[in-house]
Amino acid sequence: MDDHRLTIVSNIQVLREEIAELRAQKKTVALVPTMGALHEGHLSLIDFAKEHADKTVCSIYVNPTQFAPGEDLDAYPRPLVDDIRALEGKLTDFVFTPTDDEMYPDGFSTKISVSGLTSALCGKSRPDHFDGVATIVTKLLLMVQPDFAIFGEKDYQQLLVIRRFVRDLNIPVEILGAPIIRGEDGLALSSRNQYLSAKEREVAPQLHQTLNQLSEKIKDISKDLSELLASANDELTRLGFKVDYLEIRDAKSLAPIAEIFEDQAARLFVAAKLGNTRLIDNVAV
Ligand code: PAJ
Repeated sequence: MDDHRLTIVSNIQVLREEIAELRAQKKTVALVPTMGALHEGHLSLIDFAKEHADKTVCSIYVNPTQFAPGEDLDAYPRPLVDDIRALEGKLTDFVFTPTDDEMYPDGFSTKISVSGLTSALCGKSRPDHFDGVATIVTKLLLMVQPDFAIFGEKDYQQLLVIRRFVRDLNIPVEILGAPIIRGEDGLALSSRNQYLSAKEREVAPQLHQTLNQLSEKIKDISKDLSELLASANDELTRLGFKVDYLEIRDAKSLAPIAEIFEDQAARLFVAAKLGNTRLIDNVAV
């Protein structure tokens, strides 16, 4: 363990050379893409990666194209020294911290756009968001060419979008989804939780509690689904959330669900603002 070394790379060419060397040694590689401000949710993905591959690469890049004007791109936390320390603690092998100039050189004019899956849920209020995600993740996959890439179910729609373009474009990588890591009070860990005021932080776990209660109630098929959703929506509003959406959808296709059937993989999805902070969560039903 003493001889473990975290290599920090910012340059794409250097990264390629490092990866080529691993390949020559017949090592498998897992990539964990992040925007930094790492918490236990991100770090669980590193553990997951280490279970699957010999070497782990964590990328840290706050991708401007997935933020809309007026969103929190400038305010997004960038505690790089802490992040590197946390990755060292997890015995990560490489951290890739590219610059904007390298990722989006002058004249950059290409995007990866996934239709269908991206029109619902977060895609409605953030119409260009998933194009930005798909484009940067494609670039990262082409740069690292990992055997595995790990994404959290916290961003469930993102995970499905990534699986879809990887399949559609025949990108030779296995996409692995990892479970949501929560605080003791149930709040899904997120880099954006640090925007919450002390008071909002107290209210925030009710988002997950409401989802859980709703998920239990939905199992009673005698109840009207749309009424249950509407009353949970009212409850969140009463608690101080500004609900963007609260919906039940098919867990694979994200198609809307009007009625629950047995053996149907359904999932509840919520996005809501507390003050200026947008929180998302989801649970299996
Ligand atoms: P970011 O929000 O930093 O998240 C990086 C990865 O960590 C994503 O796969 C996300 O789903 C996962 N993650 C975040 N919170 C989690 C939690 N509480 N439990 C489990 N996993 C969690 O998602 C992005 O960055 C970006 O869109 C990115 C994919 C890096 C492209 O820019």
